[in-house]
Amino acid sequence: MDGMDPRVGRLLEAILAVAEDLDLDAVLERVVVAACGLVDARYGALGVVDREDPGRLSTFVHHGIDAETVRRMGALPSGRGLLGELLRDPRPLRVADLGGHPASVGLPPGHPPMHSFIGAPIRVRGAVFGNLYLTDKRTGTAFSAEDEAGVVALAAVAGSAIANVEMARQGQELSVSRERDRIARDLHDTVIQNLYATGLGLQAAVRDGVDPDDARARVERAIESIDATVKEIRARIFDLQDTPSAQRGVRARLLAVAEELADLLGFPARIRLDGPLDTALGAEHVDQLVPVLRETLTNVAKHARATGVVVRVELVDGWIELEVVDDGDGLPAAPRQHGMGLRNVRERAALLGGDVELGSAPGGGTRVLWRVPL
Ligand SMILES: Nc1ncnc2c1ncn2[C@@H]1O[C@H](COP(=O)(O)OP(=O)(O)O)[C@@H](O)[C@H]1O
Ligand SMILES: [Mg+2]
Repeated sequence: MDGMDPRVGRLLEAILAVAEDLDLDAVLERVVVAACGLVDARYGALGVVDREDPGRLSTFVHHGIDAETVRRMGALPSGRGLLGELLRDPRPLRVADLGGHPASVGLPPGHPPMHSFIGAPIRVRGAVFGNLYLTDKRTGTAFSAEDEAGVVALAAVAGSAIANVEMARQGQELSVSRERDRIARDLHDTVIQNLYATGLGLQAAVRDGVDPDDARARVERAIESIDATVKEIRARIFDLQDTPSAQRGVRARLLAVAEELADLLGFPARIRLDGPLDTALGAEHVDQLVPVLRETLTNVAKHARATGVVVRVELVDGWIELEVVDDGDGLPAAPRQHGMGLRNVRERAALLGGDVELGSAPGGGTRVLWRVPL
């Protein structure tokens, strides 16, 4: 790239970062980070237009403000003030000082000061998907017309990256619905037909004037046939559980474990899955996470006498964390020393260079923190 204008180089870098195959959350995140780098902005954000209420933002992905400050400010912007200006009039907007703009409603308490601003709409297949916002050029000056052009270019790239992600997802949904149709057809051709024939046989057995021996024989055949059908259904269910789940993403698999254990628990587990888990985690992580979640939730069901459990799976500083917190009785003073379950949980962490913390939850229940490096 010798001799190339460094700004073109930065734009190319930003485009490459965004164009990779990722899930939607990851793409949005990368767009924001790349845009900040491109124009040297301290803060960046991407607001997604609410489909039900296009005057508002449904999602707000941001970069540059630390978590503590975000927490103190409370609610994320929903699209009032200058952010809303771009919703009403989706055109690039460059302002030297936010506060001086007629649409400004001022910053909420606790919000870091922001001055220079660029906003640009992101269009996906022609319709406004959301807006990209950049504030506070690090040099302390206003953003330039070139900065604006760069942001507009990046917004265009983001639009096509988002379109790609959406298309890939639609493709997946289509293949799931085809698979469902195939299963329905299969069930119809075998199971339903069988049951129908069995029903006919039974009707014949109870018809007036049928010889009792003949009736008994018919009922026996019907029972055999129903047995066979039940076996058939079991086999299909087994197939269904086995094949596609291996290809499903980690989110779907973790949610499936929670659902599977809801009956045993007596209440649904509350699950929070944060970050681009499906893209960031490898099979080696998922193969450990899934059984660890199953064991810890089973322990809650068996030992805790809890009324609720909260599960969190999150990427934190290069670690994958699985936290399971219940509100039950807590660990006994001397928990069973040789429980296979918790031993396996520890081994599954150690296998990947991680560890397990087992302790009491703030409310008196049990907290298990299982973590492995990414
Ligand atoms: N969520 C929990 N609440 C209370 N006690 C627990 C919990 N999880 C584990 N324990 C205690 O730790 C012991 C060891 O657990 P584990 O190794 O899974 O063995 P097991 O489940 O077969 O008893 C359990 O017998 C139980 O006393
Ligand atoms: Mg156990």
